Amino acid sequence: MKEGIEQAARIILDSKLTLALTGAGISVESGIPDFRSAGGLWSKFDPMEYASIEAFRANPEKVWEMLREMEHVVGRAEPNAAHFGLGELEKMGRLQYVITQNVDNLHQRGGSSNVIEYHGNASTLSCLSCGNQYESDKKKDDYPPRCRCEGILKPDVVFFGEAIPQDAMNRSFQLASSAEALLVIGTSAVVSPVNTIPSITKNNGAKIIEINKERTHLTDTITDVFLEGGAGDIVSQLVEEVRREVGRKE
Ligand code: APR
Repeated sequence: MKEGIEQAARIILDSKLTLALTGAGISVESGIPDFRSAGGLWSKFDPMEYASIEAFRANPEKVWEMLREMEHVVGRAEPNAAHFGLGELEKMGRLQYVITQNVDNLHQRGGSSNVIEYHGNASTLSCLSCGNQYESDKKKDDYPPRCRCEGILKPDVVFFGEAIPQDAMNRSFQLASSAEALLVIGTSAVVSPVNTIPSITKNNGAKIIEINKERTHLTDTITDVFLEGGAGDIVSQLVEEVRREVGRKE
């Protein structure tokens, strides 16, 4: 593992534009279950019944059962060492953007300021009838939360069957086309179109560093350095090695 960490640190130090693409796995150590690991959210809730826009329109009260359960978990979650580590790398000028599939706001709370939220953000709710937007916190006690026009409110996160926020998609692809290094952390990389980002960066000559507790379909195809283990521990080791290398060069 030490050799992999050193190799990954060298890639980061040689890169003029480094991105991180993160998924639910980076927040598991903060107490938020991921989706597809054993015991993950989709083993409890069928995503097509609870996370598609059709399901929400058909039975919003039912979908809000899952959303409220997720809210309790996310509400108690704190950033972990992986979030703080990426914030550190940004401060060191060694990571320029985080593109996240997560909607838990933990990157921002962990010190990252350049965060592209590919699947939206759960801190606001919108009315499907009239488009009015509300702060999620202001509607915590309503079940399900309703707009003043009586329409049921939906979190501003991307459900299956909904479009990706245009600015997030455009910005991500633009960055992926010129990145020199990509950290892929805690994602199974099975959901599109976000899962095309690793191949876009690879096709443009970038080096791919993958951090995951298990191998994915990327590992034996486009990953250059696979660092197996928990995101918190691995990212911390990586940041320490980058800091050591920077110290050596000064
Ligand atoms: N450290 C590192 N990796 C981890 C950890 C951990 N502590 N825990 C889990 N993982 C890995 C798993 O091995 C898996 O590869 O994180 C990945 C999580 O994969 P998914 O559960 O599929 O989550 P994600 O890739 O973010 O899903 C993408 O699917 O359901 C939609 O919108 C949802 O944004 C989500 C998208």
